[in-house]
Amino acid sequence: MASIQIKNLHKTFYQKSGTALQVLDNLAIEAQDREFVCLLGPSGCGKSTSLHILAGLVEADSGEILINGKPNYRDASYGYVFQRPRLLNWKTVTDNIKFGLQSYGVPGEQHDARVSRYLSMVGLGAFAGEYPLTLSGGMQQRVAIARALAIEPDILLMDEPFSGLDELTARSMRIELLKVWSEDRKTVLFVTHNALEAVFLADRIYLLTPRPTKVFKMVEVDVPRPRDLEDERLMRIHRDIIKSLVG
Ligand SMILES: Nc1ncnc2c1ncn2[C@@H]1O[C@H](COP(=O)(O)OP(=O)(O)OP(=O)(O)O)[C@@H](O)[C@H]1O
Ligand SMILES: [Mg+2]
Repeated sequence: MASIQIKNLHKTFYQKSGTALQVLDNLAIEAQDREFVCLLGPSGCGKSTSLHILAGLVEADSGEILINGKPNYRDASYGYVFQRPRLLNWKTVTDNIKFGLQSYGVPGEQHDARVSRYLSMVGLGAFAGEYPLTLSGGMQQRVAIARALAIEPDILLMDEPFSGLDELTARSMRIELLKVWSEDRKTVLFVTHNALEAVFLADRIYLLTPRPTKVFKMVEVDVPRPRDLEDERLMRIHRDIIKSLVG
């Protein structure tokens, strides 16, 4: 189990030219244990940077991250679907997923079952023995999703995982993701540009400003699952989000 509290996060990058680029400005985000939280913000505002900081891959200048109320991100396990697939091209699809499992110390006797469960979830059971470079970009991204889910982590960080997929595949992946999540709920932070996707998936959506980013609105999506995109309640929340984004 894992709750997340991100408080007063600040980050400035220094470009090669020496110019300071302030990316995060007092960012504050919370996710309760087993909650599905979306971060919705414009390109370049600092969404990936926020996830990198949360996973300990980039250091913040200041601010606090509490996992289960304690300042140690290592107290939880993370599954990370990066914005690009980041697969090991010299390993097969199966071995990419097993590599993730090994790194997280999942016992060997569970590997085959996990690989098969999560590969079939992303619709790639028939590609288990292939190498990443023989797959399309969207298929590689689905392998990366299976790799992150297979770890069965406390916290799932997903950085625009479906943005490179066609809308039909993305729709079925969203439904599959919610199925897996509802069976064994993880705390999810899911980054997207797509307001409709956020409304379909999330318990709560943080709307972020352009860089330097902070939260300008938090929206609760208090609609039971399974959800139907035609549901008038979802449509109304979507309209309100779009209204507040365009100002
Ligand atoms: N290591 C780095 N060094 C310098 N600048 C960086 C670095 N990483 C990110 N940035 C800058 O920080 C800003 C935010 O980048 P980030 O990748 O977090 O945006 P994002 O919200 O994820 O955008 P997108 O939606 O396009 O993926 C960008 O202007 C980017 O150029
Ligand atoms: Mg990004």
